[in-house]
Amino acid sequence: MRRITQQALSLLGSISLALSAHGIAQAAQDSVKVGMMLPYSGTYADLGNNIDQGFQLYIDEQGGTLDGVKIEYVRLDDESNPSKGPENANRLVNRDKVDVMVGTVHSGVAMAMAKVANDTDTLLIIPNAGAMAITGPLCSNNIFRSSFSNWQPGYAMGKVAADKFGHKTAVTVTWKYAAGDESVQGFTEGFEEGGGKVVRNLTVPFPDVEFQALLTEIASLKPDAVYTFFAGGGAVKFVLDYAAAGLKDNISLYGAGFITDGTLQAQGKAAEGLYTTLHYADDLDLAKDKSFREAYEKKFNRAPDVYSVQGYDAAQMLHAGLKEAKGDFSNRDAVVKGMSSATYDSPRGKLTLSPSHNPVHDLYLRKVENGINAYQGVAVAQLGDPARGCRLK
Ligand code: PHB
Repeated sequence: MRRITQQALSLLGSISLALSAHGIAQAAQDSVKVGMMLPYSGTYADLGNNIDQGFQLYIDEQGGTLDGVKIEYVRLDDESNPSKGPENANRLVNRDKVDVMVGTVHSGVAMAMAKVANDTDTLLIIPNAGAMAITGPLCSNNIFRSSFSNWQPGYAMGKVAADKFGHKTAVTVTWKYAAGDESVQGFTEGFEEGGGKVVRNLTVPFPDVEFQALLTEIASLKPDAVYTFFAGGGAVKFVLDYAAAGLKDNISLYGAGFITDGTLQAQGKAAEGLYTTLHYADDLDLAKDKSFREAYEKKFNRAPDVYSVQGYDAAQMLHAGLKEAKGDFSNRDAVVKGMSSATYDSPRGKLTLSPSHNPVHDLYLRKVENGINAYQGVAVAQLGDPARGCRLK
């Protein structure tokens, strides 16, 4: 009798062990819900869509799962409206119960997302917005960026404008918000290190595209060069207006590469010959980029741009985290370790993250030639962000 009881108990024990093993596997989540908070409307709509598509491409290449974990999506149009940022991000976390937020394009909206991510201890991957504070004073274990800080392309362009092109004076023109201000800050540092002088900073409110008054002022200031930060619909309009005002052949126009990325079809001849700096170009001689471009064009019927790459890499980052955690998303320490320590095979080239979780990558000089951003060389190799104020590690 006693033997039978012991046998029965041990059988029960193995059944419950098997059950709990199964239970643990279930508790370890067989799916991860990704909250895509992006601009699907407005001046940055194309940017948001391309990020989304890049992200999808990577996930689909993995068969819809990362390390056995199924990826589910919730999408929210943030309209690039910073005043709605806190409410939108809170809705994703508290109502939709997403596991990770991916977003966004606009720095002001991303600041709100970073705050919600920190308050609720939610993982956040930023696939564009370059707000320096996010990988500076607000840097955090659970926040990652797959794109750039606003300072990086600006700094590289400033160096090139002074060192390679020998310009001495420049005027800057941008939207008046964090991205523009910080891009100009980067340019000014690079340009003035090379002996140049920024003589005037011109701005318009975001997302205004009334540039006439600024163009008149540029014409009267007659600097050697103009540096711009505009993107999306605003970038298209600025380049067209600059050429139409007759300035293009007289005062060299440069920019953070967003001024000509994803915009060239609409800009046409007005963009030909423009030099910009960015962590991507349309004809990089890299096997990874070639296969990426081919797969993207096949899937979406159009060419990718820098935003598509940043979306793709955001998905690669999530994958690196899940790999390290062996598919257990709840093991946050392992997820963070995997994401921060990986070397990514990005279509842009080798990509690693700094201790503040911001990309360290090559900044390329590009020139618009025959409707593409053609690679001209490396402007600054493996450039990181100064990450001023980040006390993470
Ligand atoms: C930003 O707001 O940080 C931003 C927006 C669009 C870009 C780049 C940066 O293309």
